[in-house]
Amino acid sequence: MSNLGVILRLNIKKLQDGLRTQFLGRNIVFSHAATSTNDIARELANKGADEGTVVVSETQTSGRGRLSRTWMSPFGGLWFSAILRPRLKPSDASKLTFAAALAVAKTLRGLYYLEVSTKWPNDVLVSGKKTCGVLAEMSASGERTSYVVLGIGVNANFEAKALPEELWEKATSLKTELGRNINVERLFNTLLENLESIYLQSLKRGFLSVLEEWKTFATFLRTQVKVTDENEEWIGVALDVNVDGSLSLELQDGTLKRIFVGDVSVLTE
Ligand code: BTN
Repeated sequence: MSNLGVILRLNIKKLQDGLRTQFLGRNIVFSHAATSTNDIARELANKGADEGTVVVSETQTSGRGRLSRTWMSPFGGLWFSAILRPRLKPSDASKLTFAAALAVAKTLRGLYYLEVSTKWPNDVLVSGKKTCGVLAEMSASGERTSYVVLGIGVNANFEAKALPEELWEKATSLKTELGRNINVERLFNTLLENLESIYLQSLKRGFLSVLEEWKTFATFLRTQVKVTDENEEWIGVALDVNVDGSLSLELQDGTLKRIFVGDVSVLTE
């Protein structure tokens, strides 16, 4: 019988057994078809779940991206959310998005030797196409962060063509780039190990140390980009990402603009 089209199911035992972390993923909540792992993780966090609890699902029926976008989550992908309880101000806790994107970038380069880059604010690209997104959601009271849910989606073991046609130009998957299936449990284990170590680094040495490393993957910096938000669009050179997480853009008339929310597309000459 042909192997084509066979769905590779996640092995919950392998997700847990291969882990060498101190706390991240020590408690895994596994589902075959969640609505959104972020929603489940938030419910658990609201009920007091420990830091490090991770919700994994083989598919999501209502996967969410930034700015309330739909996130397609077919079987074969790696869809999970981690509950963190950092002692950080809410404005600093939101920067953990960069820690997550850096962990993914390091993992994909380390395991598969792919051409990996990061794009502001939360994308990880392979060969210039989006392969992973991060959605950080938090709960805070006043100046205290009660928890952060870091949702990470990696297009792993499905062909990019399984995504809607309008995404084909901008998005890809590990399977499409590598021409083979990968071991998703190993990807998950390594990613959690890297994420835990970068998270601890950011608490100990500060966000700047994470941001500097994130920038080593940020090939969009110093290139001509278009940045769009809900109402506006700017074209200019992406100069830097600042310690508050904003993007500095040099507009075509030479003025500087700091952008806090938006999407970047790289303009090729
Ligand atoms: C984005 O690029 O807009 C962020 C995408 C985040 C997707 C992940 S998949 C796991 C978690 N659950 C969700 O519903 N979203 C995140």
